Amino acid sequence: MDSILVQGGGPLNGQIPIAGAKNACLTLMPATLLSEEPLTLTNAPRLSDIKTMTELLRSLGSEVATMQDGKTLAMSCHGEINTRAEYDIVRKMRASNLVLGPLLAREGVAEVSLPGGCAIGARPMDIHTDGLTLMGADIELRDGYLHAKAQGGRLKGKGAVIGFPFASVGATENIMMAATLAKGTTVINNAAREPEIVDLADCLRKMGAQIDGDGTSTITIQGVDRLGGATHPVVTDRIELGTYMLAPAFCGGEVECLGGRMDLLTSFCEKLDEAGIDVTETDKGLKVKRRTDEIKAINITTEPFPGFPTDLQAQMMAVLCTANGTSVLEEKIFENRFMHAPELVRMGANIDVAGGTATVTGVNKLKGAPVMATDLRASISLILAGLAAEGETKVSRVYHLDRGYEKVVRKLQAVGAQIERISE
Ligand code: EPU
Repeated sequence: MDSILVQGGGPLNGQIPIAGAKNACLTLMPATLLSEEPLTLTNAPRLSDIKTMTELLRSLGSEVATMQDGKTLAMSCHGEINTRAEYDIVRKMRASNLVLGPLLAREGVAEVSLPGGCAIGARPMDIHTDGLTLMGADIELRDGYLHAKAQGGRLKGKGAVIGFPFASVGATENIMMAATLAKGTTVINNAAREPEIVDLADCLRKMGAQIDGDGTSTITIQGVDRLGGATHPVVTDRIELGTYMLAPAFCGGEVECLGGRMDLLTSFCEKLDEAGIDVTETDKGLKVKRRTDEIKAINITTEPFPGFPTDLQAQMMAVLCTANGTSVLEEKIFENRFMHAPELVRMGANIDVAGGTATVTGVNKLKGAPVMATDLRASISLILAGLAAEGETKVSRVYHLDRGYEKVVRKLQAVGAQIERISE
């Protein structure tokens, strides 16, 4: 199994290109199931999660080809398709549940394995299934699979006003896709407002869908009889962007994140400012630099967009380990997303976790250590910590990183980091 070795200490200077968003691409890909015509995605990230979604879509009968540039996915799903998403693929990646809405919209039936829990929380699917039920689907759980069937063979939007108890990203995406081909108009109240939702809506509109209100809490989808093909660029990965913005904040130096946009990360940028980190917009992206040598302690609460993203909480916690003072981080999205804390403590951090709250008291320096992480964002937070620490850090279970950060070693080496991947 591969590991990553990091020698900490030096400042980072230069440019890092930001890829297309993993979480946008993972919801755009299943949209191919909604049409008989080709859907081409450009600016797709090169990640193992994208390969898993490719495998799933192929198992359902879709053609998926990666073009020579590695960033263009040409998909096509004509003729008959298979409506069963098997556990063997779904268990590898929760985002596989995003085929449920499209399959049900296209075929009127779907069997999708429940993905099961994961390292950061139980992550049930009740908001997805309650919404689809309101649209006229009968759904039951048998043998670990959700068996869904649209009454009368087609989902109904007419009269379906769906009020989410929580602004779930995945449920908004599943219902939005399902509603594009439903009969009548579907309204989602308390919808998620993440940029990935807006990106999906943009792509669906290019395919002929009638969607209004994406980016706000109320999304209205007027069902149509069929969708066509489209070519669509995947939006910039705001989480990869935020992660690399934290690298110079933590280690010193100045890094320009190419393709970065402030509007993707407004509240995160506000928190950086509060911590004493300058972010400047350039014509190519965002430049980041510490205002002084010292980072100030700050308090963070994770929230749905436009609040502080849960997917940047681990990385921010790592940075706050050497801040001046005590920071309090509250995790409000997932019930178990502090698995990186004990690993950071092994590197000399002073962190106290009580339920969904972590209290971080800044120390002078972190010290390199062998560490491992149980999820993607925790893994990258340990790499950031290793870059700022004294001595060598070895991060194992690198397969988590491959799910969400393309060319992480090369991107960090390019700004002067001493980092390498080793096979054992
Ligand atoms: N939830 C329910 N019931 C549901 C759906 C969600 O209780 O039916 C709960 C979840 O258990 C969780 C909260 O609601 O506690 C938020 O879940 P949400 O549905 O919004 O998240 P998701 O769609 O499963 C996406 C991203 C996550 C990201 C979250 C929150 C993808 C593929 N995944 O997950 O990304 O953390 O939104 O922003 O888009 C990551 O990239 O590292 C990652 C975990």
